[in-house]
Amino acid sequence: MVLPDLCLERNREKTDIEYINLDLDLKPVFKGKKYFLRTYGCQMNVHDSEEIKYYLENLGYDACDTLEDADIVVLNTCAIRENAKDKVYGYLGRCKHLKSLKKDLIICLAGCLMQEPHEIENIRQNHPYIDIIVGTHNLYDLPKLIAKASGKQNIEVYSNSDKVYENIRYSRDSKISAWINIAYGCDKFCTYCIVPYTRGRERSRKMENILEEVKYLKNHGYLEVTLLGQNVNAYGKDLNLGYDFAILLEEVAKIGIARIRFVTSHPWNFTDQMIDVIAKYPNIMPYIHLPIQSGSDDILKKMNRKYTIEEYKELFNKIKKKIKNVSVTTDIIVGFPGETEEDFQKTLDIVEYCKYDGAYTFIYSKRVGTSAAKMPDPTPMSEKEERLRRLNEVVNKYSLMNNQKLLNKEVEVLVTGESEKGSNKVCGYTDTFKLVNIEGNKDLIGKIVKVKIIDAKSFSLDGIALPEEVKN
Ligand code: SAH
Ligand code: SF4
Ligand code: F3S
Repeated sequence: MVLPDLCLERNREKTDIEYINLDLDLKPVFKGKKYFLRTYGCQMNVHDSEEIKYYLENLGYDACDTLEDADIVVLNTCAIRENAKDKVYGYLGRCKHLKSLKKDLIICLAGCLMQEPHEIENIRQNHPYIDIIVGTHNLYDLPKLIAKASGKQNIEVYSNSDKVYENIRYSRDSKISAWINIAYGCDKFCTYCIVPYTRGRERSRKMENILEEVKYLKNHGYLEVTLLGQNVNAYGKDLNLGYDFAILLEEVAKIGIARIRFVTSHPWNFTDQMIDVIAKYPNIMPYIHLPIQSGSDDILKKMNRKYTIEEYKELFNKIKKKIKNVSVTTDIIVGFPGETEEDFQKTLDIVEYCKYDGAYTFIYSKRVGTSAAKMPDPTPMSEKEERLRRLNEVVNKYSLMNNQKLLNKEVEVLVTGESEKGSNKVCGYTDTFKLVNIEGNKDLIGKIVKVKIIDAKSFSLDGIALPEEVKN
């Protein structure tokens, strides 16, 4: 089999984006049946799963917690690294076994992995028991595909992405905090990354539709929205309507919802106006996820990240200076093709410099079709694993140090649910996006409460709720 060269996509024609209002009429024809949904990957996929849930529930399916009880299984897949893919194929083993016992079971694959032509080919040839494959650009086809599931494999995946759908409905996981897509896709083409191929070209939603959604959520009791885009700074650039991310953020803030967050910010074209807006509005949370990826200019160049370490430091310092009490987290890849010990040392240096509140760290994973996949990569895996271990040591040291600064302090926490750390405990996040486990009962869920921090670890804080609730 010849593997398709995904890089050809880079030359796809720039056509105008078409805006379409979805108008689906769903009937509960599967009443009494059960669905099992499993989500892999990032917040985009988590939010897409809320759309999938809406379709399933409005077709009459009820959720179930065990695979074995399901009449339909949906795996919403991720392609970002090899281990994300391995997890999906590992789980498919269980699904295949179940299908051999339960012939009517419908198995459906959705998500980023399904946007890769060679993966579809693999499913076609080696996994005939899978009933439905739906792509990231046409999730709305899922009800139609389920209705006509017939024992024959049904694949509906589009490679082009020149449409933005409005009026999408979601069964949201939370009644307190909501995801909102502001832009789809990515045009940055970092050389290691599969996302531009699986999520398509960058396309922004119109501002009026986003603001309507925020108002609707606020009116329905939501206290927090997180604006989602692979690169939120690029918001609006494709629209040419005279607005950008700073203007959108300010308009969202004026609606007066209690907490506003956004992910992800690319260090490239993070404007002063954006910093000023974040600093000005108390309901925009002082938390920025600012992926650096590497501390070496040579590697950043090979990654096509479009900034130097000097530029990153300048931006970082501006953010720290202008936004009071801001916390900054990052993403780092070790073992990018050709990364030397000297390059890696520079990554350790930038972590020492920025003293991040937290970092997601990864070993480089080769993705078929990306341009980094063709670069020579002589470093052995054992060396990459050792670099990751050394990096995590430094990252964890600073996470703990930053968390310890909050010991005995009072912080405001939006309580989002029960804690995994035992009964009579709830949990939530500080404005700076630190997870706090709180001694207190379930009545606190859905409130912003004052909490006194009594213990600090690398990845979470412990606290006691104080009687006074914060008024919004
Ligand atoms: N759009 C976001 C990130 C999306 S992917 C951004 O640009 O910040 C999340 C993270 O996964 C990336 O920041 C990167 O650190 C990591 N990642 C992406 N592709 C990878 C690969 N091929 N191997 C290892 N890590 C990768
Ligand atoms: Fe991937 Fe880079 Fe786009 Fe982020 S900005 S999604 S890392 S290509
Ligand atoms: Fe997200 Fe994975 Fe796709 S990280 S955008 S679900 S490849």
